Amino acid sequence: MTMVSPLRRPKNRPGKGLGWAGMFAVAMLALLAPAMPASSQEAARVSAVINLDKPGTKIDRNIYGQFAEHLGRGIYEGIWVGPGSRIPNVRGYRKDVLDALRKIHVPVVRWPGGCFSEVYDWRDGIGPRSRRPVRTRMNWDDVTDSNQFGTHEFLDFMELLGADAYVSGNVGSMSPRDMQLWLEYMTADNDSTLAKERRKNGRAKPWTIKYFGIGNETWGCGGNMLPAYAADVNARYSAFVKAPGSMGMIRVASGASVQGGGDYEAFTEAMMKHPGETEALSFHYYAMPMGRPKSEATGFSEAEWADVLDLARKMDPLLSQVEAIMDKYDAGRKMALFVDEWGAWYKLDRNAGPGEHHFQQNTLRDAMVAALTLDIFHRHTDRVKMANIAQMVNVLQAMILTQGDRMVLTPTYHVFDLYQPFMDATPYPALVATPDYVNGAIRMPMIDMSAARGKDGGLYVAIVNTDPGKPARVDTNLTGRASGQILTAPAMDTANTMAAPEAVRPQPFSGRQEGGRLVFDMPSKSIAVVRID
Ligand code: AHR
Repeated sequence: MTMVSPLRRPKNRPGKGLGWAGMFAVAMLALLAPAMPASSQEAARVSAVINLDKPGTKIDRNIYGQFAEHLGRGIYEGIWVGPGSRIPNVRGYRKDVLDALRKIHVPVVRWPGGCFSEVYDWRDGIGPRSRRPVRTRMNWDDVTDSNQFGTHEFLDFMELLGADAYVSGNVGSMSPRDMQLWLEYMTADNDSTLAKERRKNGRAKPWTIKYFGIGNETWGCGGNMLPAYAADVNARYSAFVKAPGSMGMIRVASGASVQGGGDYEAFTEAMMKHPGETEALSFHYYAMPMGRPKSEATGFSEAEWADVLDLARKMDPLLSQVEAIMDKYDAGRKMALFVDEWGAWYKLDRNAGPGEHHFQQNTLRDAMVAALTLDIFHRHTDRVKMANIAQMVNVLQAMILTQGDRMVLTPTYHVFDLYQPFMDATPYPALVATPDYVNGAIRMPMIDMSAARGKDGGLYVAIVNTDPGKPARVDTNLTGRASGQILTAPAMDTANTMAAPEAVRPQPFSGRQEGGRLVFDMPSKSIAVVRID
């Protein structure tokens, strides 16, 4: 039995102790007294108390952000097919992908990398497309980049999507002056030569750049720097990176990663001690094992299901550790934490062709990773103001997979769709008394929950059943009517494929009333989001 509650976590704890509401919660839990199931067929008993008296800090809509890198078929084929393509497109952007992304209201997109940003020369991607150079992608010597998708194509795409731009600058292999000239090209509204060049290239008005990254993974592909040196470099570059003040551009220091980044605590410490002129710090974490083989994306065992979910859940204590270091230097919590790369990372798909780097199928397990991770972000709203899942199309834990002129929406996409009411919502603590889901040495709460008051005034609750073999009955302290949608599938690795594009898709779902309280019957391996009226 595990008690899961953000009330226990100092980061989000609005008061000192549980107070009367907490005591009420404990009393409720005692009353509901979950009993262990008599057999594996019987639903496990779970009780949840949503504390509507303790609203937390708003969930920033940007935690629903995306990451789109020049990698594999992420940009080319995935987003950009060019205006002459036989694939239906809007000025070169594939229409099916654009329409699907619009539907989930993507708030912000990080581009052009990733490691690609550290080898990217922005000048290659401006001017007439026919004259742009073809470059070898330095991280992948078997692949070239045509530069057909550059600054104009990305920023126009953001306008079509209605998303904010998060541009990542090149710290690894270009100078601070190059970085500043790029910003001037994008944002100047004067008669500078670069502003004129932009106009000549077809864009009269400056673009708004809301977020600008000072490099990517400076500890690795961004230059293999040690913490103190990386902090100096960040301070130096950020001093020259300026956009018109009215834009309120946020400069993002390239922060730590747990995978491959050396000592992430030392790195965070160094960046916070000497943040230069940055307003946010990034952090990367993938649900990916270290020092042992990655899982296959499909055809995996239950042990691998549990392992990947467990890896995803490790984001929570890691964020707490990073936040504790940030608090030491920034007690007022002015510096935001951007988890600008996250997601599940598996072995390359067995059927991936040449150049399809980091292509992986997406299954119900990925939907679980997405829901559990978004729930974690909902519990760290004091610091985590942006997150960007890696990556938007055809790469790693993607929203959408394409093949020629066809596409499928992945289970991860459906989670982002279901969770939309949590954008800019006000979270409430959920105190959940739940049995654990246990597999071998791995143990985690069977039921995970998020609750929040949406911008539309409605109360929304998300419930995740991590157990692939057992249903749960979730008793709550809530009253009213609850209806929404649920995502589940026959197998742990059910995926949406071109042959079966709707194998995993949301279905109607509602709660029922018992003794005046709402009860939710959660099938095994399922994710539900309901609105309570
Ligand atoms: O998302 C794939 C890669 O993972 C990115 O290029 C890099 O930043 C990270 O290591």
